[in-house]
Amino acid sequence: MNKKITIGLFGYGCVGNGLFQILNRNELPFAIKKICVKNINKQRDIDASWFTNNKNELLLDDSIQIIVELIDDADEAFQIVKQALLNGKQVVSANKKMIAQYFNQLYALQKQTGNTLLYEGAVCGSIPAIRILDSYYANEQLLEVAGILNGTTNYILTQMADASIDYKTALQKATLSGFAESNPVMDVEAFDPVFKLQLILAHAFGLIIPNHQILRFGIQHISSTDTRFAKQLGCKIKLIARIINSNEGISAYVMPAFIQATDALFNIQNENNALSIQPRFADKQFFSGKGAGSFPTASAVLSDLGAIENKQAYSYTKLIGKTQTELGVSVFLKVYMRGDNISNVCQIMNLEKHWTEGKQQFAIGSIALKDLLNVSDKCIGNFFVAAFSVEQTLASGQISDKSELGVFSIH
Ligand SMILES: NC(=O)c1ccc[n+]([C@@H]2O[C@H](COP(=O)([O-])OP(=O)(O)OC[C@H]3O[C@@H](n4cnc5c(N)ncnc54)[C@H](OP(=O)(O)O)[C@@H]3O)[C@@H](O)[C@H]2O)c1
Repeated sequence: MNKKITIGLFGYGCVGNGLFQILNRNELPFAIKKICVKNINKQRDIDASWFTNNKNELLLDDSIQIIVELIDDADEAFQIVKQALLNGKQVVSANKKMIAQYFNQLYALQKQTGNTLLYEGAVCGSIPAIRILDSYYANEQLLEVAGILNGTTNYILTQMADASIDYKTALQKATLSGFAESNPVMDVEAFDPVFKLQLILAHAFGLIIPNHQILRFGIQHISSTDTRFAKQLGCKIKLIARIINSNEGISAYVMPAFIQATDALFNIQNENNALSIQPRFADKQFFSGKGAGSFPTASAVLSDLGAIENKQAYSYTKLIGKTQTELGVSVFLKVYMRGDNISNVCQIMNLEKHWTEGKQQFAIGSIALKDLLNVSDKCIGNFFVAAFSVEQTLASGQISDKSELGVFSIH
């Protein structure tokens, strides 16, 4: 084999370890030279001579061509990636928070230096999402992108629905199985899928949107009443990240949603992720696979390494010449709400049904996305909201999936 491409690796945790094993156990054209970690004294499964805690040992080494950044600190990761690009290196990362937060700077740095940053592992783990949206659909209008982008919450929701256990027990199970971190806030409150949606918005729609502009509801207040209600409707509740390209502009949200059995997302179970894309001419496409984990995420990093070897970079085609800088918020969503006092929370348009059970109030109706954005801030206590469908005409004139519900009750 020809001379291998030399890699400097930052991070030897879940993903870094997976990448090390893949590169060292297979005949591949990449060789890790050194690994930078935070705690140099930590016990590792490989010889201590691999490690340093001095980032300049990697960043200033002229023999290192590619920096792979796999650490868990977004701000420090940005400093590493910035310095690597300025020092003439190509970079691969899987850090969605860092890329979402520093998107403008990272885009400018690539233009300024002519060096490449790839981050396929940042969005759906092993599913090739970014490159398809960025390159394959560079010139085709997308009408909708929707998906399950967070494995932890999908695991919890699957357990609640299938094993009929409550949220707390399902979260404990997720933690014990290694699918939830000890502090699961980024996942259960849906910050993580919002970061991923920001990357999709940039590549698929040419929009760089700060995270506070994206409607975000997590699953932290879900109760067994909600999952039972979904079952009665023949649905499952999933945490859905969705971008809709309609006459009202491009709207986006991350929130729980009732998914019908006819929807491919219905069968995405446990820690798996999925992405559904609706291009204007190609029509619906569906991708599913492991959204996280050591080897699945390292597989995406490996693919990025190959892309860099082949001198590929993101096209960012849809960003060029884009004038829209804000999301559309006039779109109406049909939602189910439950809480201690939902009548005080917001104005529901077209109230279809409302009822109470003990102290809990329930309502189903349509609400403007901009009104729901105000609710996010007030979302305290026991408030749970889930979307049914988007009652909106899509840009092509196609009507999005509407779920017409009959009369129902909760037992
Ligand atoms: N885990 C997944 O399934 C997954 C999936 C998709 C994307 N990602 C992303 O991939 C990245 C890595 O995730 P992970 O799960 O592998 O993290 P992790 O298991 O928590 O490991 C983090 C690693 O980063 C190192 N580190 C932290 N700060 C550092 C610094 N300032 N300089 C050098 N090294 C530093 C740590 O060093 P020590 O070992 O010394 O503590 C550790 O080796 C994150 O951005 C994550 O969002 C992860």
